[in-house]
Amino acid sequence: MTDRYLMAVESSCDETSVAILKNDKELLSNIIASQVESHKRFGGVVPEVASRHHVEVITSCFEDALQEAGITAEELDGVAVTYGPGLVGALLVGIAAAKAFAWAHQIPLIPVNHMAGHLMAAREEKELEYPLMALLVSGGHTELVYVSEPGSYHIVGETRDDAVGEAYDKVGRVMGLTYPAGREIDQLAHKGQDTYNFPRAMIKEDHLEFSFSGLKSAFINLHHNAEQKGEELVLEDLCASFQAAVLDILMVKTQKALAKYSVKMLVVAGGVAANQGLRERLAQDITDVPVVIPPLRLCGDNAGMIALAAAVEYDLGHFGQMDLNAKPSLAFSYLD
Ligand code: KG4
Ligand code: ZN
Repeated sequence: MTDRYLMAVESSCDETSVAILKNDKELLSNIIASQVESHKRFGGVVPEVASRHHVEVITSCFEDALQEAGITAEELDGVAVTYGPGLVGALLVGIAAAKAFAWAHQIPLIPVNHMAGHLMAAREEKELEYPLMALLVSGGHTELVYVSEPGSYHIVGETRDDAVGEAYDKVGRVMGLTYPAGREIDQLAHKGQDTYNFPRAMIKEDHLEFSFSGLKSAFINLHHNAEQKGEELVLEDLCASFQAAVLDILMVKTQKALAKYSVKMLVVAGGVAANQGLRERLAQDITDVPVVIPPLRLCGDNAGMIALAAAVEYDLGHFGQMDLNAKPSLAFSYLD
């Protein structure tokens, strides 16, 4: 068998990334150019700034990915690209570059859903067994996804309002932490206690939907009231209380999903899967099925995860055409 090399491109938000995957499993390179420094002072990603940065660095990311992998463009068998969900201008930069590359080298184009990428990053950790349940937690999404077989993703529950990562970043901003705040809140939480008792929305209800806006508002109100009265809040306890509420909600809903659907494993992925508190709770609370979490370096946005998902799409013959467009609100279908 000859070796198969896939290139993947990711530019849906604020990282420009290009990766090379050998034989469906081995990541030879995964170049990530982060723009986070440019967005920090705005406390979030500025779409126009993101697009401009992608344009500036994407060509050198292609070159670096090939060089680090030690292969030439002629050896590639396909080029995968994130076509949604994400910021339209940012997505379009990656799509245009991937299309040009595919056309120039006459190789197939493989469109990949960004959330499928997060999920399939778990392949780097362990061989996946189907059907599986996935808890996807990122800056833009919070969803429970039932994967019946490779490439078949179905939403069984999702957030009605804010995503978990978004809630972390918003409360982080209120506390004066730098964007993105998830990691710092996680670290501070480990030094504090759950003393503020924030609400855990809908945990008694049987459905698999999430809500984090009430928690966010409760946090902001507490902070605001304390400020007005000149009361001191304990930062570590605030973080511990917020994180405890988030983790309780995530764990209860995940356990309900596992009770409802018979699956062989649980995958937990997305930027928030880097959370140490979440990893500890998963180890403690999920005992019925193996839990697979991508390695930390593949939790945040990167093209390696897009390549790992693309290998599955390639085997299924899911190729894109030159009229491929960005789909900013691309979503998995719901389970009937
Ligand atoms: O998946 P991701 O890199 O980008 C999106 O697709 O949205 O997720 C980014 C999100 C940010 O909101 C960030 O604060 C959060 O992941 N995050 C964390 C941690 N590390 C990153 N949230 C909680 N705990 C962490 N350790
Ligand atoms: Zn992401």
